[in-house]
Amino acid sequence: MKIKNSLIAYNLRYTSKNFVFLKGLMFWFRKKKQVPNQYMVLRPQDKTLYFDKDQSILETCIENQIEIDHSCGGNGSCGTCKINILKGLELLGPREDIELEWAEERSFKESERLACQCPSTHKLEFEI
Ligand code: FES
Repeated sequence: MKIKNSLIAYNLRYTSKNFVFLKGLMFWFRKKKQVPNQYMVLRPQDKTLYFDKDQSILETCIENQIEIDHSCGGNGSCGTCKINILKGLELLGPREDIELEWAEERSFKESERLACQCPSTHKLEFEI
């Protein structure tokens, strides 16, 4: 019984050390991937959203626990992730084919874009 308990204690200590190590490793990778001092602002909540390289606005919202519709999972086939760009529209560039189709079909305003089709961009301000 004593041997069994010490084995359990050893395993617990061993696995918790591994867990702390893995958590540290994940934190390091995440920090390395993150673009320093790059953020967007969600209005009217005034929430600052930091993002990773090559991340769409939809992915940044999901990562920051912002509720946003995205029935198709971000592949551009549902048109539900519409956002309104308040500041920095010129930074996003023109709409691509998928987004252009939705914009014409649903008569999007110039400032309305699909969050899954737009890259996270520094100093962009938007509302959902
Ligand atoms: S999530 Fe479906 S179009 Fe953006």
